[in-house]
Amino acid sequence: MCGIVGYIGPKEKKEILLDGLQELEYRGYDSAGIAVIQGEKLNNFKAVGKLKNLREKTKNYTSKGFGISIGHTRWATHGKPTELNAHPHLGAYSYVVHNGIIENYQELKKELQQEGVTFLSQTDTETIVHLFEKYHNEGFAPFEAFQKMVERLEGAYATLLITEAAPDTIFFAKNGSPMLIGFDGEEVYFASSDTPIIGRANEVYYLEDGEYGYVQNGKVHLFDGNGEKAFQTQPLIADKAMAQKEGYRFFMEKEIYEQSRVMGETMMGRVLEEEIVLDELNADFFEGINAIKICACGTSYHSALTAAYLFERLAKIRCDVEIASEFRYKDPLLSNDTLFVTISQSGETADTLEALKMAKRAGLKSLSICNVDNSSIVRESDTAILTRAGIEKGVASTKAFATQTMVLWMLALYVGQVKQTLPQELLKEEIDAMLRTPKALVVTDELHAKLHRLSKRYLHGHGFFFIGRDIFYPLALEGALKLKEISYLHAEGYPAGEMKHGPIALADAELFTIALMPKTMHYDKIKSNVEELSARDATICAISPLPFDLADDFVQTQYSSHPMVEFFEMMVVTQLLALEISVRLGNDVDMPRNLAKSVTVE
Ligand code: M6R
Repeated sequence: MCGIVGYIGPKEKKEILLDGLQELEYRGYDSAGIAVIQGEKLNNFKAVGKLKNLREKTKNYTSKGFGISIGHTRWATHGKPTELNAHPHLGAYSYVVHNGIIENYQELKKELQQEGVTFLSQTDTETIVHLFEKYHNEGFAPFEAFQKMVERLEGAYATLLITEAAPDTIFFAKNGSPMLIGFDGEEVYFASSDTPIIGRANEVYYLEDGEYGYVQNGKVHLFDGNGEKAFQTQPLIADKAMAQKEGYRFFMEKEIYEQSRVMGETMMGRVLEEEIVLDELNADFFEGINAIKICACGTSYHSALTAAYLFERLAKIRCDVEIASEFRYKDPLLSNDTLFVTISQSGETADTLEALKMAKRAGLKSLSICNVDNSSIVRESDTAILTRAGIEKGVASTKAFATQTMVLWMLALYVGQVKQTLPQELLKEEIDAMLRTPKALVVTDELHAKLHRLSKRYLHGHGFFFIGRDIFYPLALEGALKLKEISYLHAEGYPAGEMKHGPIALADAELFTIALMPKTMHYDKIKSNVEELSARDATICAISPLPFDLADDFVQTQYSSHPMVEFFEMMVVTQLLALEISVRLGNDVDMPRNLAKSVTVE
């Protein structure tokens, strides 16, 4: 995920770009850059890290008067977050910004290098600008050269290009990554989403995949495979908060829907056909490591518990998990052959950070799995793997949990790979399942409507038990946490087989049991556990791909080819159920009472 802004017109371009990029910073903040062509003068600034560094660098620069300009905030996919890898990328006389991945960039790069082009960065994006200049240098007019360049690109892109060869024109193309064009009279804006142009433009056109073109003299020329085409703009929504929610009622709802897409981002460049590649880890990272200890809090703790099953089952490495606030005061015995892993969405959770410091003092190697680059936990760790969920605003964590769990699954396979404890055949099966996950995370209208309907039956009672076995036990814990956080109803997650050792005493019609009944994992065992509850009159809501006669309510899942795929699909069901119950109870879904997004106190 990267963010793009463009502007053509007489206003102060630097401010428009920087303010726009600020709105998009959630899409990535490894580095940022802008390029402006005004008259004959071309200016370009780049800075590593957050946008404030670029602001500082450009503080004495002004850019009033007619000109063209593009800006970018980067979330690194190819090449480390350095200034050379930051956008805009320069050819000999043109600049480009890009969001997405050019899948055939290696082939294009090789071709260009053979023709004598020197590449300065490690990015896929740089091929775009050189390809454009190649065609222009061959004698094609700027737009023809741009068109020829677009024809060669494979993969996902939203891209803007400016060139001294046409200093009054911005060229654009979109395929797979988002981009829109904003209009205010003769002034034209480009952006990855609405928010950078709200308050500036009043009309908008959302580009479709396969569209490209140029803007010149206040007029946009739009093309697709069939040539130039007419297009219809629409009024731009004026409310920024509404725009940020992109039409959803709550950030949490938007984040649940985003999970399918962000999972793709989490896997990008890491999950290959027959191998897991984690550039963040040196080849010898696991040398001398015989065990893993994970510390985390809340939802992150639940992803850690899930991971413990995966590490032991897939990688055959011992793994234990502790709640960070407990670990801190128990005088733990630590040994140097243990890798200390912390998991945190925010990277600022005080207990997790302190646990990490303790482990470091004891001389343990550390790895963090985090959603926020440069956060305290990331900085404190020897190395970090970012979850790439994008900013999460709902206090109740959803997509952070999904992406943490995915990264941990990848890590388990990676450990199995480097330690050669995971047979190649099994690795391949796991990878195939991983690649099917985004599909299982898609929220269909039918599913959401069903959970909306069901939710009205679960607004009272004396409590919920979410039950599951194996990896579905941590998922049960997470489902219960989600529900209690935003509904304020009492909910517990429990291992299904443990109910008969005490909690079953609570069973009656007012005890709601949410039963996670996957087909691919201990189905018959959990079925018996649910039957025991049903026999005591508990109200059962079963989530399963297999119909279950004793269920009072039943949510049928669609994907049952692999436990983890089932896990992720059931996760979405529990998240939507919590959301809909909370809405019916009239609670503040995004900012539930007594909670904070980042818990920076002990
Ligand atoms: O930022 P972290 O992942 O370290 O936060 C840990 C917990 O505070 C967090 O997961 C909390 O439980 C969420 N509100 C769960 O939805």
